[in-house]
Amino acid sequence: ELGRTGERLGMAVYGVGGFVRDLLLDIDNQDVDITVEGDGILFAETFARQHGCRVRSHQAFGTAVLVLPTGGKLDIASTRLEFYESPGVLPTVERSSLRRDLHRRDFTINTLALCLNPDRFGRLIDHYGGQKDLREKMVRVLHNLSFVEDPTRCFRAVRFEQRLGFHLEPHTEGLLRTAVRMGLVERVGGKRLLGELTSILREREPLPAVRRMAALGLLPFIHAELRFGDDVEHLFAESERALAWYELLYLPTPVEAWAVYFLALTDRLDSPKYRETCTRLAMPGRWLQRLFGHRHRAIKHFQALRQGLRGGVSIANSRVYALLRNIPIELLLYGLARSGQEELRRLVSHYLVRLAHVTLLSTGADLHDIGVPPGPSFGRIKERLLAARLDGEVRSRDDELEFARR
Ligand code: CTP
Repeated sequence: ELGRTGERLGMAVYGVGGFVRDLLLDIDNQDVDITVEGDGILFAETFARQHGCRVRSHQAFGTAVLVLPTGGKLDIASTRLEFYESPGVLPTVERSSLRRDLHRRDFTINTLALCLNPDRFGRLIDHYGGQKDLREKMVRVLHNLSFVEDPTRCFRAVRFEQRLGFHLEPHTEGLLRTAVRMGLVERVGGKRLLGELTSILREREPLPAVRRMAALGLLPFIHAELRFGDDVEHLFAESERALAWYELLYLPTPVEAWAVYFLALTDRLDSPKYRETCTRLAMPGRWLQRLFGHRHRAIKHFQALRQGLRGGVSIANSRVYALLRNIPIELLLYGLARSGQEELRRLVSHYLVRLAHVTLLSTGADLHDIGVPPGPSFGRIKERLLAARLDGEVRSRDDELEFARR
């Protein structure tokens, strides 16, 4: 259908990049990138009208996103519109503009294009030897300045290599190491660096990629003292175990696995260095407020729990509740991964499955009726009541009111 719209508008339409790479590797990829030789926005709007899709256009970039009725998304880009400059020699200019567009890409395996127009449907365009590198399982740059132009590609190289089970082509690895030695990655802005790191930690198995980043000397760009060793290996394995364990609890709160791995990766950094890392990565304020900013508190509370367990006497439910509430799930799993203690796991699951859901049986109106005055003491009494309920000291609404009267 995309190709037919292209044909009607006289534009060549291609599937490009990761989508074609994964198609040839027989890997599922819902992320379809389309490049149109011509005006991509006109193309997207025409297609959207004909097929009842929504469309978001970015005039400045000549790009658009098509949102399909199924919820899927298609990214539409234009080749650089050389098209309009010399309409007389359209066919050659047309073809060379796709070629130039593909030339800007990071690795040969991402430069393949698949024509979607009906008259050439399925024809593969391979200007830079992408098919050969796919066959030979190589991640290869197109030219010597690739990492200089865009040092985030150092991370992308590792991600593709590890995800696909490929190798860095030796010359490419040399160029990457040179880029590292020249400190080019230093120049990458925090936001982009964070983007690359999260992409890596979101991979199904992030550990090999982290190991490889360390071997290539990429970790110090995140923080000068970030190290990789057996302790990190161990913590990643424990994090994976904690995540798998959480999945089996079938709780509705979703978990960002990458965040647990991020905490594992930065575990050895003390609080000031951890904060420097968050700053270097331009961590958004809302992430700090909701999650990463609570690392110190989570560690302290887990220590308190461990000490409690060491005492041999069982820890009161209300104490477990007080220590674990308001700690985001990712930090709970990080805390478990660090300790690896079976008993702690039992406490956390007891908290997640039962304690976190305990509520009072009496209402605010009930408390008001028995004469609890509004104001700060109201909240304090409710908290004491909840603690009593968690510890089984009160079991019914009447118990609660009796307790509150006292
Ligand atoms: N690209 C690039 N340099 C970058 C980022 C992206 O050249 N720093 C190019 C790549 O050729 C890539 C395309 O832009 O194919 C789209 O980028 P992205 O969606 O990040 O890559 P995918 O290959 O689709 O990766 P993934 O499978 O992880 O989505």
